[in-house]
Amino acid sequence: MPKKLDKIFNNSKIISIDLYLKKVLYDKNYGYYQSKNPFGAKGDFVTAPNISNLFGEMIAIWFVSFWESLNKPKTINFVELGPGNGDLCLILLKTLKSFPSVFDAVNIFLYEKSKKLEKIQKKRIVSDKVNWVKNLNKIQKGPIVFFGNEFLDALPIKQFKKINNDICERYVSLKKNKVEFIYKKALKKNINKLKKYNLLKTLGIIEYPENGFKELKIVCNKIKKMNGGALFIDYGYEKEKKVSTLQSVKKHKFYDIRKNTGNADITSLINFNLYKKYFYSEGLEVENVINQSEFLQKMGILERVKLISDKMERKRKIDLYSRVQRLINPKMMGKNFKVIFAKNKKSKFSLPFK
Ligand SMILES: C[S@@+](CC[C@H](N)C(=O)[O-])C[C@H]1O[C@@H](n2cnc3c(N)ncnc32)[C@H](O)[C@@H]1O
Repeated sequence: MPKKLDKIFNNSKIISIDLYLKKVLYDKNYGYYQSKNPFGAKGDFVTAPNISNLFGEMIAIWFVSFWESLNKPKTINFVELGPGNGDLCLILLKTLKSFPSVFDAVNIFLYEKSKKLEKIQKKRIVSDKVNWVKNLNKIQKGPIVFFGNEFLDALPIKQFKKINNDICERYVSLKKNKVEFIYKKALKKNINKLKKYNLLKTLGIIEYPENGFKELKIVCNKIKKMNGGALFIDYGYEKEKKVSTLQSVKKHKFYDIRKNTGNADITSLINFNLYKKYFYSEGLEVENVINQSEFLQKMGILERVKLISDKMERKRKIDLYSRVQRLINPKMMGKNFKVIFAKNKKSKFSLPFK
C-alpha cells in the first residue's frame, strides 16, 4: 500500500483534494477504476441499472418520447457518460428494438474514462449501433441526448472552508505514509468561482465540482448547437450540506476516504441546485429536479412490473418487486437519488418533470 501511495503522490508532499481523487480513481497504473470491475454483489457497489432491467427500460422509453418531441428525426445520438459495466446500454438496445424507427435513427456512443471498464463494455456489447468515443466533438449529425447515471458523483470535487477570515482550500498531504487533510489559503481565481455561484455564504465545507463543470462544458455546447438535452441521475441534495460529502465504498461498506487508497471507490453527493445554476449559466433550460421514485413511477415502472410479472412464478415475482422497491422506495434509493434534465432552450419536452 505505501508504494501505491508514493506513486499516487509522485514525490509531491501536498496535493489538492480533487487531484488526489483523480489519481486515486483514475491513475493509469494505480487508479481504482483502472484495475477492477466494481459492480454487483461480488464487487464494491451496485447501481440502478445493475438492480433491475426496468430502470434501463424507463430510460429507453423516456428517450423514445424525447425523439418524438423532436419531430422523429432520421438521425439521433444517445451518448452515455460513464457507462460502467454496460448494463444500461444492453437494455437500451434491447428495448429500442421494439421501436424500429427509433432503432434505425439512433447512434449510441459510450464515453468512458477507464480502460478496464471500456474493455468489459466492448466484450459485452456487440452491436453496430454502438461506438466508443473519447472526443464528443466527433459527433456531428442529428440532435444529441446525453445520459449519465452516477456519472457526476464520480467526478473529483474541490473543497473549501472559511477559517478565521480567509477562504481556504482543502489539500491532502502524505506524512510517514499516512494521508492527512490540511487547509491552505485559496487562490483568488478559485474564490471568484465560488463567488460566481454564491457559495461563500455556506458556513462549513463548500464543495465545488470544478471537474464536473469542465466535463459538462462540451456537453452544453453540443446541446446548444445540435439540439437535444442531458439527463442525469445521481445521489444528492438540493439544500446546502455544509459538511464533506465525500464517501469511500469497498465491498458495500463505507470507509474513511484516506484509507484503501486506490482500492476503494470515492464519490461525493451532488449539489443539484449548483448544477442547475451551472446549466442556466451555460445557456440551457433546466426542469425542476425530481427524485428517482417520481421519475420512474411517472414513466410507468409500476404498470410495467405488473404487466411482466403477471405470468411469473411466485419466486421470480417477489424478486422483481423487491428490486423495483429498491429503486423507488423513499427509504431506499427513491428519494435521495434525484434527476436533473437540462435541454436546448427551444425544446418543449418536459416528460416526466411537469
Ligand atoms: C459510479 S460508475 C457508474 C456506472 C454506470 N453509469 C452505472 O450506473 O452502473 C461511474 C462511471 O463513470 C466513469 N467515469 C468517471 N469519470 C469519467 C470521465 N471523466 N469521463 C468518462 N467516464 C468517466 C467511470 O469509469 C464509470 O464507468
